[in-house]
Amino acid sequence: MSQAQPEKSAAIRSARTILLVLLSTSILFPTLYQPLLDNVWQLLRSWSVYRWSTWETLLTVFSYSAIEVPMTVAFMQHPEWRIAHEGKAQQDEPLKKPKGMRRPSRRGYEALVYVLPLLTLDLTLIKKFADVSLEAMLRSGNYDPFVAGHKSTFLVPSLHNFTLASPLQTQRALPISAPSIRRLVLELVASMVIYDALFFVFHLSMHMLPVLRTWHRAHHSHAEIHPQITNQLHTVERLGLVLLANFSLNIIGSHVLTRTFFVPLFIWLLVEIHSGLDLPWAYDRILPAGWGGGARKHALHHADGGGGLEPYFNWCDKLWDNIQKRRDVATVVKPGVKIG
Ligand SMILES: *[C@@H]1O[C@H](CO)[C@@H](O)[C@H](O)[C@H]1NC(C)=O
Ligand SMILES: [Zn+2]
Repeated sequence: MSQAQPEKSAAIRSARTILLVLLSTSILFPTLYQPLLDNVWQLLRSWSVYRWSTWETLLTVFSYSAIEVPMTVAFMQHPEWRIAHEGKAQQDEPLKKPKGMRRPSRRGYEALVYVLPLLTLDLTLIKKFADVSLEAMLRSGNYDPFVAGHKSTFLVPSLHNFTLASPLQTQRALPISAPSIRRLVLELVASMVIYDALFFVFHLSMHMLPVLRTWHRAHHSHAEIHPQITNQLHTVERLGLVLLANFSLNIIGSHVLTRTFFVPLFIWLLVEIHSGLDLPWAYDRILPAGWGGGARKHALHHADGGGGLEPYFNWCDKLWDNIQKRRDVATVVKPGVKIG
C-alpha cells in the first residue's frame, strides 16, 4: 500500500489538471467545443429513443447499474479500502461481505420498485423543458397546439390528453439547438450545488421530524455501509430525492443536454458517498481540500446518525454546525438522533 501512495497522488494531480483545463476552456473559449456539441445534439435529437418520455428514467437505471455494480465488485475485491475496517488487522481473518448484500440477478424487484412511480409520471405528464415552445410541448401531449389553458413552465404540470389513439405520454419535446458548453458546465455545477443544499434541508428534516424519520429509517437499517445502500430507500425518500434533483435542474432552466450529463454524474457521486470505501480516485480528493463531503463523512453519518447531513459538499454542514454551537444546546433537539 505505502509504495502505491506517490503514484496515486500523481493520478489525482493529473485528474485535477484535466478537470481544471476542461472547466476553464469551456467557460473562457466556449466556441472551441461548439461544433462537437452541435453534432452530438443533432444525433441525439434524431434518435427516437432519446425522444421517449421515459428516456431519463431509463438512463437513470442504466447509469445506476453501470456504476453501482462495479463499485460493489470493488468493495468485495478491496477490503483494504473499506473505511469500517481501518486499523483492523487484515491478515488474520478474511473480511466478510456485509449482511443483506444482493446478487445482481436478484435485483429485478428493486429495479421495478424504483421505476414504477417514475414511469407513471413519465407516461402521464407532459415533459416541460427549457427552450421548448408551448406548441411543441402540447403536440407531444396529444393536444391541439393552440388549445388554451396550459403553461410552458414546469411549475404547472399538464396531463397528457389521453385518447384511444394516444393512450400514454410517450414522447418528449426537445429544444432545437444545442446549449453552449459554457451554459452546460455552469448549469451542471449550479444544479449540483442547489440539489446539495436542498437535500441537506430534506435530510435534516428526516432526522428531526418523527413522521419523516420513519421513512428515512430504511436507509439507515444496515450494519457496515456498502454501495447497495445507495438505493436502499423508502419510496417516499427516493421520490423526494428524484424530484429535488429534477427541481434543481428545472429552476435554473437547464437544457435537456445538461440533464443528460447530470444523471450519470449525480449517480456516480451518490454511489461513491455510499461506497464505504476510501477510494484512491475519490472525488473529494480531486476537488480542492475541504470542498467535497466524500465517502468518509457519509459513512460516519450512517454509523452514528449525527452530523454529515449534506450529501456532496461541506458548506451547509459547516454552517449548521456553527448555528448549533451558537445556540443554547440544552434547550434544543440536536439532529444527531440515532435513527436505527
Ligand atoms: C422533471 O421535470 C420535468 C419538467 O422539466 C417534468 O416534465 C418531468 O415530469 C419531471 N420528472 C419527474 C420524474 O418528476
Ligand atoms: Zn440520514
